[in-house]
Amino acid sequence: MGNEELTYHVPVLLMPSVDGMNIRPDGTYVDVTFGGGGHSREILSRLGDGGQLLGFDQDEDAEQNIVDNPHFTFVRSNFRYLHNFLRYHDIEEVDSILADLGVSSHHFDDSERGFSFRFDGALDMRMNKRAGDTAADIINTYNEERLADLFYLYGELKNSRKLASVIVKARAGQKITTIGEFLEVIKPLFGREREKKELAKVFQALRIEVNQEMEALKEMLYAATEALKPGGRLVVITYHSLEDRMVKNIMRTGNVEGKMEKDFFGNVQTPFRLVNNKVIVPDDAEIERNPRSRSAKLRIAEKK
Ligand SMILES: C[S@@+](CC[C@H](N)C(=O)[O-])C[C@H]1O[C@@H](n2cnc3c(N)ncnc32)[C@H](O)[C@@H]1O
Repeated sequence: MGNEELTYHVPVLLMPSVDGMNIRPDGTYVDVTFGGGGHSREILSRLGDGGQLLGFDQDEDAEQNIVDNPHFTFVRSNFRYLHNFLRYHDIEEVDSILADLGVSSHHFDDSERGFSFRFDGALDMRMNKRAGDTAADIINTYNEERLADLFYLYGELKNSRKLASVIVKARAGQKITTIGEFLEVIKPLFGREREKKELAKVFQALRIEVNQEMEALKEMLYAATEALKPGGRLVVITYHSLEDRMVKNIMRTGNVEGKMEKDFFGNVQTPFRLVNNKVIVPDDAEIERNPRSRSAKLRIAEKK
């Protein structure tokens, strides 16, 4: 059973991000991470005749939050297919695109989804419950080197090699299928003091791999760059350094690697103008109200 009585998700940096989209009542907008619909509802409150908003989410649970509003269309899909769905809906160009990346509170609070080490249950972690490998599939099938790489790359864990090695040894005896079994294997590697922080990193790394988050983000950022009108805004909220680097790079250079392309005169050729040079972060009051906003970073760029 899910924990239905909990709030699905409290939107993060709501006003600065929606203000950053420069909404016009008759414009066309996309929220690629609909979730609990907090940002989408704020966008819709600013739309009038001719205005439209497409809201993407790959998780079918988000459908319970669909807004009954003539200006709104829900798209149950991975945002990596942004380009295809814009074409499907006969939309050639859009005025602004918002992405509030990662998982929602609902994912962490639902004991059955396998995102949180607070609960026991299946090691799943798929945002789209209908597709792809689960975290258990990865833990039980990746070779030691691949496991170590993913913990190092996506969790920035210093003991990634040791971690991979204990997992491979344990699974030779018996498959690891639940969070409880997984914790039993890995917990002895972490001191009590840092245990929660380190476990959060392990779970983040697995979640990124399960959902192919970096690949999906890259594809969406390129599709968004192409879909935006001149003057249109790309507005992105990130929660960890890897996704933030990709977003910063595309906004500065037009590519996710951050390669500077210069013209004959030495000017950097980029499709964007930065709206905020410094990242926008939640203030103390927001962090106190909503501790999950702590790591949020908001970046806004305008298409030239
Ligand atoms: C941080 S939450 C967004 C919360 C939302 N802004 C709100 O106010 O409620 C991220 C949401 O994006 C969805 N999501 C993450 N990656 C996705 C992807 N690649 N394609 C589609 N949806 C994705 C998740 O399922 C989750 O519901």
